[in-house]
Amino acid sequence: MKVYGLIGCPVEHSVSPIMQNAAFSVLGIDALYCSFNVPEDNLGDAVQGMKALGMSGFNVTIPHKESIIPFLDFLKEDAAGIGAVNTVENVDGRLVGHNTDGRGAVMALEKKTRLDGSRILVLGAGGASRALCHALLDEGVDSIYLANRSLKRAENLCRELRKAGGNCTPSGLSKRELAESAEDVSVVVNCTSVGLYPQADETPLPGKLFKSDMVVMDIVYNPLETRFLRDAREAGAQTIAGVEMLVWQGALAFEIWTKKKAPFELMRDEALKALGDGGVK
Ligand code: ATR
Repeated sequence: MKVYGLIGCPVEHSVSPIMQNAAFSVLGIDALYCSFNVPEDNLGDAVQGMKALGMSGFNVTIPHKESIIPFLDFLKEDAAGIGAVNTVENVDGRLVGHNTDGRGAVMALEKKTRLDGSRILVLGAGGASRALCHALLDEGVDSIYLANRSLKRAENLCRELRKAGGNCTPSGLSKRELAESAEDVSVVVNCTSVGLYPQADETPLPGKLFKSDMVVMDIVYNPLETRFLRDAREAGAQTIAGVEMLVWQGALAFEIWTKKKAPFELMRDEALKALGDGGVK
């Protein structure tokens, strides 16, 4: 039997074990996925242990996505570009780091819209935003407006994206700045944690800035429909729930490990069931 896992802190509420084990089971793969709560000080020992035990692969979540890099043997281009790893593959005893977060978000967006040549407003400039923005550049977007509470952080990420060939404009989160940026875009993605349970009444973008021809995605998936997404839906925009991106990043990890097509619909059904049962208050 192959063994996979998730390392992070905390990991108790993760739906990854449910999604991945369901996918292994339906494809008849003899494998098990478990979650491991690993505090920051134990990260190096944990990774060495996973390697020594011959685990086939694992996911990495907060707070280890960046700090795991020195403990790995090789980084794939996506992970190296983003500077963070969410998926590790054990290739003949060498731990190879991948990042499926950005590509997962792009897969969710591409189900609803063409990204090539489009203008996009991204709210937030943390790790999730960095992963998404690098993947958007890979898709050939025309430009990214990057709005963040800390302007300095938005400027720093924009500088990095320009170096990677992107056309990126930083701003703060004032109503005036947001109105100017939202005017011009066809896609809006929330990569901040605003709206996450229990602050479910909050939203990073005033509802009146949504337009009916926009595609709007939230990375927050608890609640499944955030106020940000509700406002967008009520304005007539097409919306993509955060759970889509969550499932896509897991499906892409599954495909890296097994070299088989992931049963995406099943993984989404299982994730929704688990979130409905206990994740969403
Ligand atoms: P992640 O890896 O999930 O992106 P992160 O790196 O901690 O997490 O980033 C969180 C993002 O949410 C940041 O863009 C943060 O803004 P700052 O860079 O200004 O901190 C944003 N964020 C968190 N709480 C916020 C709030 N109350 N209002 C606006 N933005 C917020």
